[in-house]
Amino acid sequence: MSNIVAIQNIADYIGQEVTIQGWLYAKTGKGKIQFLQVRDGTGIMQAVLFKPNLPPEIFEAGKRLTQESAVVVRGVVKENGRAPGVPGGFEIDTADLQVVQLSQEYPITPKEHGVEFLLENRHLWIRSRKQWALLRIRATVMRACREWLDTHGYVEMSTPILTPAAGEGTSTLFEVDYFGDTVYLAQTGQLYNEANIYSFGKVYCFGPTFRAEKSKTRRHLTEFWMIEPETAYQDLDGLMEMEEQFVSHVVQRVLQERRPELEVLERDIRMLENVTPPFPRVSYDEAFERITKIREESDDPELKELLKLEWGDDFGSPHETELTKLYDRPIFVYGFPTVCKAFYMEPWPNRPEVCKSVDMLAPEGYGEITGGSERISDPDLLLKRIHEDNLPEEAFTWYMDLRKYGSVPHSGFGLGIERTVAWIAGTHHVREANPFPRTLGRVYP
Ligand code: 4AD
Ligand code: MG
Repeated sequence: MSNIVAIQNIADYIGQEVTIQGWLYAKTGKGKIQFLQVRDGTGIMQAVLFKPNLPPEIFEAGKRLTQESAVVVRGVVKENGRAPGVPGGFEIDTADLQVVQLSQEYPITPKEHGVEFLLENRHLWIRSRKQWALLRIRATVMRACREWLDTHGYVEMSTPILTPAAGEGTSTLFEVDYFGDTVYLAQTGQLYNEANIYSFGKVYCFGPTFRAEKSKTRRHLTEFWMIEPETAYQDLDGLMEMEEQFVSHVVQRVLQERRPELEVLERDIRMLENVTPPFPRVSYDEAFERITKIREESDDPELKELLKLEWGDDFGSPHETELTKLYDRPIFVYGFPTVCKAFYMEPWPNRPEVCKSVDMLAPEGYGEITGGSERISDPDLLLKRIHEDNLPEEAFTWYMDLRKYGSVPHSGFGLGIERTVAWIAGTHHVREANPFPRTLGRVYP
């Protein structure tokens, strides 16, 4: 058998005979010629069957192929500049075709399908070009996240998924029966990372995260992936500097490595090219004023209703959307009211109603992709906040210990992978940024 080659590397094989192992994506042709669009997981390309050059049974087998049949194609690689719309610019002049399995009638055809149907068939939908492109970008985003942290002194630490207490508020906990006791699926690895920094200085965890979110928005999954760095001796300013470096690296990496996928998605990449430090820093108070002004000046009653806001409220999706429209790159919103954020956030000096939190909002209306803060390092203050939030003190004994033995100012953030991928890939619903999304209404397949 000749060289087995991945379609993404096909340009290196012009004039050579190669073998492609894949599946039939689509087929056209008539008379003496058949054009097969073959995908192999790394890309998609055309294999041409020309009747006079082939044994009759091979040409006939090609004609009978159904969508998603498994095929192995052998032939010489040629440049194909002539056919617009043919992916890749290369084709194989087929010398042999092996049908590994003739597919049954495939439910997802090139016609339009409803999104519920597609989600019900997610195990098949992931083969479609756009979903393929999105999930390839997701893999690059995940790798680029690790890459930046691994080369900046961060040590990866796994944090538990079965946890005894809430990390991010009690309203979104999934309960699990643990031999008769109730434990919860992790909402964050942060609290454990706060222990880890005292051994390793700079750490991160990366894994699935669970929130029993009763919201049906395009931004909420019940299971999503989050990467959470935590850094000892880092204040809020240091945190923002780190986040902008980190996110810029991720976006630039995708631009370098995933151009074909961004093209499949028809993503306008100009706003991605802007993603370089520094990102604008906007205080909550300033953001609050700007949103209030937009609301007052709007003559759209629906928008006015959506943008209702009182000082102390967390921003919702409509507020973030309006705010990000004012900028050409991601922004930081820092200094949120203490009441709308988690118990562990360091208060602003001389302004305890505000805390040293920061969210990063992605442009073009995408909104929050990271949430983070400087953490409380003082034991008495932390205990006071645990009481104020009615959290069970016993479950936090170990966490309180961290403030007794060498406590230092420290900070960290969590970046949601699906929201980040949805933004970079330019798709509005986070469910397409996860291979098998879990939402309020769906845990199948
Ligand atoms: O803002 P969050 O809740 O922050 C934390 O969990 C902190 N403990 C992180 C830290 O400081 N180590 O969540 C962080 C990010 C959000 O900005 C968002 O991108 C994503 O996680 N996220 C979700 N993504 C999809 N579906 C949901 N239900 C999400 N909830 C949060
Ligand atoms: Mg948040």
